[in-house]
Amino acid sequence: MAPAGISTSSSITLHVNGEKYTLPVDHRTTLLDALRERLDLTGTKKGCDQGQCGACTVLVDNRRAVSCLTLAVAAEGREITTIEGVADGDELHPVQQAFVELDGFQCGYCTPGQICSALGVLQEHADGWPSAATEDVRPEAGPPPLTPEEIRERMSGNLCRCGAYVSIVRAVAQAAENTKETVA
Ligand code: FES
Ligand code: FES
Repeated sequence: MAPAGISTSSSITLHVNGEKYTLPVDHRTTLLDALRERLDLTGTKKGCDQGQCGACTVLVDNRRAVSCLTLAVAAEGREITTIEGVADGDELHPVQQAFVELDGFQCGYCTPGQICSALGVLQEHADGWPSAATEDVRPEAGPPPLTPEEIRERMSGNLCRCGAYVSIVRAVAQAAENTKETVA
């Protein structure tokens, strides 16, 4: 129990998929629970709830984040994108389209996190971020080709219990091709 005079909850405003939501939250509430349990945005999945599986990945200010390790209060005022905000109306985002076309999933439980993570990967790559698989990390070398090794390394925080990895790597590679002009 908190000492007298210390508040354990606050009213916060979350910016999610272009909408504003003001809600009271206990300070211990994760962004994942706020999205799923309070805002009914259940596309973001809870797998391990301890930062190990990537199922809860969302974009915060265009960078990927595991929402189970992010406090809702820390996300206040940031631009949050969940899987519900990725498509443009009825038009799938090229990353979603590639996952559909290349069978980048089986049960689909990990897929929202995989897709949000792939969006993060494409942006990080366009921004010139190296990965542990990048051979030449000198800034002047520029972004490395998105080889299967690069994609596997960059997507390694997202687990898939169904083992759809081969198709996921192909889908991310195709999405990279299809979004070359739009990322960055
Ligand atoms: S639920 Fe967040 S990383 Fe597994
Ligand atoms: S598609 Fe089933 S866990 Fe990835």
